[in-house]
Amino acid sequence: MLSSKRILLIIGGGIAAYKSLDLIRRLRERGAAVTPVLTRAAEEFVTPLSVSALAGEKVYRDLFDLTDEAEMGHIQLSRSADLVVVAPATADLMGKMAGGLANDLASTLLMATDTPVLCAPAMNVRMWEHPATQRNFSQLEADGVRFVGPNEGDMACGEYGPGRMSEPLEIVASIEAQFSAGPLTGKRILVTSGPTYEPIDPVRYIANRSSGAQGTAVARALAALGAEVIFVTGPADVSPPERVNVVQVETAQQMSDAVDAALPVDAGVFAAAVADWRVSSASDKKLKKSRDGLPALEFAENPDILKRIAHMEDGRPLLVVGFAAETDNVIEHATAKRARKGCDWIVANDVSPATGIMGGSENAVIVISEEGAEEWPRMGKDEVAKRLAVKIAGALTK
Ligand SMILES: Cc1cc2nc3c(=O)[nH]c(=O)nc-3n(C[C@H](O)[C@H](O)[C@H](O)COP(=O)(O)O)c2cc1C
Repeated sequence: MLSSKRILLIIGGGIAAYKSLDLIRRLRERGAAVTPVLTRAAEEFVTPLSVSALAGEKVYRDLFDLTDEAEMGHIQLSRSADLVVVAPATADLMGKMAGGLANDLASTLLMATDTPVLCAPAMNVRMWEHPATQRNFSQLEADGVRFVGPNEGDMACGEYGPGRMSEPLEIVASIEAQFSAGPLTGKRILVTSGPTYEPIDPVRYIANRSSGAQGTAVARALAALGAEVIFVTGPADVSPPERVNVVQVETAQQMSDAVDAALPVDAGVFAAAVADWRVSSASDKKLKKSRDGLPALEFAENPDILKRIAHMEDGRPLLVVGFAAETDNVIEHATAKRARKGCDWIVANDVSPATGIMGGSENAVIVISEEGAEEWPRMGKDEVAKRLAVKIAGALTK
């Protein structure tokens, strides 16, 4: 599967560096060639000799090495691979990457490369949860860096939580997935998903019952066909899929901004249940019970993301797909919605409580397009997603 692929493996200075030795072995078993790069700190955890012996190649360590620079300059080295893998990606390395620093060989290669980068973070749970690391993580995802893990579990430091580096075979699976070409390889697709939360005050909000299950399944199915997926999600019940660039938001306005930041895209799938209104009178202090009666909430209209994107004059995605959750006259209402919003397709479903669709694992959809209404039988949300992804691939590649 990985034969003829070259991986530039950057090993950072964390305890999990020992797992990278196994990672090298697993990659080579699958036919990949590994060019190893050790940071200065990584040498405190694994020796250049072990890394070189396992990789069967020279180890690169120093930006200012005259021999290395004469043989293969750092710019050439950064572009010599099919994929750059950073494992373990320490907090420090992630910070350098997110901040654009280039003050040693590893960070310079990461700045100079034009090759996709996959990071496997590994650090103490507090370091992972630190706002600075989370900020760097979001920034890197927005920059197109892909991630595998971190996993949750016991740590070398005795604590428990997220921060453990993914196991070598998980990293291998993620590397293999990066190379699996599909009909959507080279296509960039935006998917919105989940509900939005509209604050009333700092502790209360107005939300809806969307679980995010269908949007998440669509994002996963599109990624499986090779698309680069930007997944903008409200606070959903289900975890985001692997191999997509996740942007987490809460309010409709934040979702709208995140959608703008993701453009341009080849297609947009707008599966999020975006609140139509927000509380314009939202308080920055918790509202108190008072003897003067009930608080009066005033509402303002939220941005209509689907309509705005579907009506873009410049750079409109080739395909704009909206979702409609209806409780009656589904085809009629969804057809009217398609015309009103100006999108190419509407995926309509009946979410009246008796159907069990909202929050459930199945869906029965009707895809409304220029050609009319196409009724799909009731099936799992994953199946709906796969079928929709194939239909999208058909539309984008015809
Ligand atoms: C025993 C020990 C274990 C460490 N483990 C980690 C780790 O797992 N993750 C991490 O981000 N930093 C860890 N650090 C801190 C890093 O080694 C330090 O931030 C270093 O500057 C990272 O260098 P790098 O950018 O080359 O990865 C550890 C430090 C020590 C002394």
